[in-house]
Amino acid sequence: MNSLTNKQILLGVTGGIAAYKSADLVRRLQDAGASVRVVMTTAAQEFITPLTMQALSGNPVHTALLDPAAEAGMGHIQLARWADVVLIAPASANFIARLAQGQGDDLLTTICLATAAPIAVAPAMNQGMWLNASTQANLRILLERKVQIFGPADGGQACGDVGPGRMLEPLQLIDAVAGMFQSGLLAGKKVVITAGPTREALDPVRYISNHSSGKMGYALAQAAMEAGAKTILISGPTQLAAPERIECISVTTAEEMLQASLAHVPGCDIFIAAAAVADYRAAQIAPQKIKKTLDDSLTLMLIKNPDIVATIAALKNKPYTVGFAAESENLLDYAQQKLQRKNLDLMIANNIGSEGIGFNSDDNAVTIIDAQQSQELTKRSKQQLARDLIVIMAKNLMDNQ
Ligand code: PMT
Repeated sequence: MNSLTNKQILLGVTGGIAAYKSADLVRRLQDAGASVRVVMTTAAQEFITPLTMQALSGNPVHTALLDPAAEAGMGHIQLARWADVVLIAPASANFIARLAQGQGDDLLTTICLATAAPIAVAPAMNQGMWLNASTQANLRILLERKVQIFGPADGGQACGDVGPGRMLEPLQLIDAVAGMFQSGLLAGKKVVITAGPTREALDPVRYISNHSSGKMGYALAQAAMEAGAKTILISGPTQLAAPERIECISVTTAEEMLQASLAHVPGCDIFIAAAAVADYRAAQIAPQKIKKTLDDSLTLMLIKNPDIVATIAALKNKPYTVGFAAESENLLDYAQQKLQRKNLDLMIANNIGSEGIGFNSDDNAVTIIDAQQSQELTKRSKQQLARDLIVIMAKNLMDNQ
């Protein structure tokens, strides 16, 4: 199993002789399973060409903030959203100073300001520059802001000095980045997640379903697994590959999803219902294909499906139970009502009327509601959102125990 499977790493390269190592780093990140996009500062391009990084990463290299053509392709905000992690390697003393000051005067600093993803820097500089009080003060600021500092290593330097300031080797950086995805927050816990749509047959060729892609639920499963939980994903039909290190149970109908949920709920600490379950199914599944008639209309009799998350929340030893509400109007009111009606601990409301979020999108934006309060999580990738949600659920679980 590669340690960075399905991860999206935005690699920032700044000006320093260690920039030559970032070419190898791109390869190693890909070998570990990550997709890599490279952003280079102007100074970095003095040490290694964008063409080299483009050839290695297989993606266009981003170099300028005010380049209309590049912004039309993947602009700085999209890059900031795309990243699961922003890794700056090498990070020069100058870049560290600019990051600490919150500058946004080039593409890489702007991405760092805009992103909701964690940021890590791998410093590389002369030992005197590293030990300088200004650099150390800047690093303290970054640490306070939860930027991770990887290295530097001690040793001989390109200028002939010996001391701290060498960039960590690519394989050490891979381990450090992989560690960023493993919080241990849910170590020893069991999490069960439903994802995707359900399909309710009408006849041998037709069914009732919806546009859920499963992306939100799969991202939650990945985030729960990375937080150390034994994770079980109960998925309706999707186009997504079953994530590694997660027990994945494929179901088709709401009834099957309910049975799988009940089978796996014993010992479960958190149950997350991200699936878009069909509320109704055909009263009778026609044994043969329903034929077109001369009538202008056709009446189908539908009956209610069981409510899976409400059934789990009604159990005597119920897990911490989380629902999703997909609403196109009155988001907070309807979500609040569902929280209470289904006896949930947390409701995650997504406004499916908004462009680019909700069903089948790569991003999502939600409001989370519990009995006490509500909190908005602005638009970000479903992977990042899932990690943020898992942190909140883990904290709530701890507070409840
Ligand atoms: O899969 P994606 O394309 O990534 O899209 C994600 C999503 C929009 C599907 C997801 O974020 C989401 O909102 N899922 C819930 C959608 C939904 O069906 O909402 P609802 O308001 O109908 O249901 C409320 C809650 O009850 C949900 O947690 C649902 O899983 C659960 N439910 C509903 C009906 C039912 N019979 N059983 C249930 O458990």
